[in-house]
Amino acid sequence: MTTRSSDGEPACPVPAGLPRLYGPTPDTGRDSLWDELRERHGPVAAVELEPGVRVWLLLGYHENLTVLQSPHLFSRDTRRWREVVEGRVEPSATRPALSWRPNALYADDAEHTRLRAPIVAALSRVDMAATAREVRRIADDLIDAFIADGEADLIGGFADPLPVLVLNRLYGLPDGYGHMLGDLTRVVFGDDARRAGEAVVRTQQYFAGLVARKRRSPGNDLASWMLEHANGLTDHEVAHQAALINNAGHQPTTHLIGNTMHTLLTDERIRAAHADARLSVRELLDHVMWTDTPFQVLPARFALQDVRIGNAEVRTGDALLIGFDPAHRDPAVRRGREETGVVSGARAHLMFGAGPHACPARELARMIAATGVSALHERLAGLRPAMDPVLLRRVPSPFVRGLAALPVEFTPGAPRPRPAPAADPFPAADSGQEPRTGSDDPLGRLFAWWRSLRR
Ligand code: HEM
Repeated sequence: MTTRSSDGEPACPVPAGLPRLYGPTPDTGRDSLWDELRERHGPVAAVELEPGVRVWLLLGYHENLTVLQSPHLFSRDTRRWREVVEGRVEPSATRPALSWRPNALYADDAEHTRLRAPIVAALSRVDMAATAREVRRIADDLIDAFIADGEADLIGGFADPLPVLVLNRLYGLPDGYGHMLGDLTRVVFGDDARRAGEAVVRTQQYFAGLVARKRRSPGNDLASWMLEHANGLTDHEVAHQAALINNAGHQPTTHLIGNTMHTLLTDERIRAAHADARLSVRELLDHVMWTDTPFQVLPARFALQDVRIGNAEVRTGDALLIGFDPAHRDPAVRRGREETGVVSGARAHLMFGAGPHACPARELARMIAATGVSALHERLAGLRPAMDPVLLRRVPSPFVRGLAALPVEFTPGAPRPRPAPAADPFPAADSGQEPRTGSDDPLGRLFAWWRSLRR
């Protein structure tokens, strides 16, 4: 990589015929597109993210790693994107991945450290053993809801709600609030822009209300721990970091579970190795994070100066997309398979990022996904796809790589007998109790609104 100073020339117009990242995801995924781009352009290619919006896509493993680890050359702050600076792109609430927010993910340098430290400190206080039991309880509750039917959609009925219910518990709230947050998050990331706008506002109300509650009566939970951190974040800032934890944690965990179940259902060799304990669930997750990345592409980094990467002349303010999926298909690091069928050295995947923004919740994410996959494996006997896997539809997104639904069949079973309520592993002031709806509690009012819609 070589750098040079900007000469201030205007941005290049979008050349006709650039490969598109928008539009429906082909049901076979985009693997052949990555290979084609690499063949034609080398490790970095220009693509169209939206009609008329040109960005660089990093295809090489080493180029991705270099950009992630060079914060002095590449910013995470979307306001530095030349398309935004020059008014050609309007980042709006309905483009969550591209809109700037006052949270750690969109901050650089000292501001990033100030906002990230309370997140890292709060996550380090999570009792992993108690949380693993809670994840299993939530997973079992979700399975109980469909086990008698002998059929289910493993995305809508399991992989999608599980992470958000867990995160909601880590905020010290009863499950009802988690179902509300899950509904809102689904609409935010759905394809109805009008409803998404409203859901964004309601989600902000959830986190502002959560922080107001925890300020009044702190508990043993992520929000309370961030509030008491020495960096002294305001309530508004804590609400934004709490929202970041949900936004950053939900979808990748959902699709890690979904893609892992898809691999188990469709790859006979992997299924056999897992079934006879030659392949642990954790090794299986690493294999999937190499071969079927829950995020194929991550937006974005913005060049702080002119720089040459591979054969691309990147200009100050250009956007570069992190290509996780293309990086893992890079022939420079292409791996062989072990006797179990897993990719050898799969732990070198880039799926949790690298550099200053690397995921601070790797262990938690692995534990949630491993617990979820094990619960399905243990409880659903005779699990099989309910439709031809080649007909499965993918999430229509340039970023997410996952299934919109994963219909399965299995031998019908019985829900677990309801256990007596156990001691709450998250003894927050109000956890496990009926939500409060008083006028001094905006979170309770939001919950009352949501419940009224479901009646
Ligand atoms: C399989 C699941 C997950 C994957 C693959 C994943 C991946 C990532 C990646 C790639 C980044 C870096 C983004 C960038 O460099 O721009 C990131 C950041 C982050 N992740 Fe995760 N993540 C997962 C689960 C979670 C969970 C469960 C949580 C929270 C409990 C979480 C919280 C965060 C936060 C707060 C950041 C921002 C860090 C910063 O900007 O300093 N992630 N994650």
